[in-house]
Amino acid sequence: MTIRVNGTEVSPPDDARVSLLDLLREHLHLTGTKKGCDQGACGACTVLLDGNRVLSCLTLAAQAEGSDVRTIEGLAGEGDDLHMLQQAFVEYDGLQCGYCTPGQICSAIAMADELRRGDPSYVTRDIAASPPPVTRAEIRERMSGNLCRCGAHNGIVEAIEHMLRETAA
Ligand code: FES
Ligand code: FES
Repeated sequence: MTIRVNGTEVSPPDDARVSLLDLLREHLHLTGTKKGCDQGACGACTVLLDGNRVLSCLTLAAQAEGSDVRTIEGLAGEGDDLHMLQQAFVEYDGLQCGYCTPGQICSAIAMADELRRGDPSYVTRDIAASPPPVTRAEIRERMSGNLCRCGAHNGIVEAIEHMLRETAA
């Protein structure tokens, strides 16, 4: 069974121990996805697996067989068109070194879907409210698995707020 990566079918690695992160970076040379800690602590390696955010350092490539993987390289539109959230990161100064950015953006896109589904978080006061109100506390909590060592968190939150505003039903 193959893995669909940004719309292209690829063969899984022969070695069943290869992580999804290493498949992307080392085998497919899709280096937009970053390796930070390689142990599930920083979020730099976050990608979308069938639309859900996963830490690709803790996911075996074999677990993605038959699934759709989307990385930062697969988010932009045709040509030079950026994804709305990529553009918002530029406009709201959501990055400095940029190392955490691909993971932040993939994570936030899936997080927006979680919000729309009405998934509660640790800071949701009224878990019967669906969808939960979009507060900065909600965004910060839901993005707490993605660390930014440069301290660009305020710009990151503002960029995500912009996307949520623009895509509100
Ligand atoms: S590299 Fe995967 S969580 Fe840090
Ligand atoms: S922009 Fe440098 S780690 Fe986030």
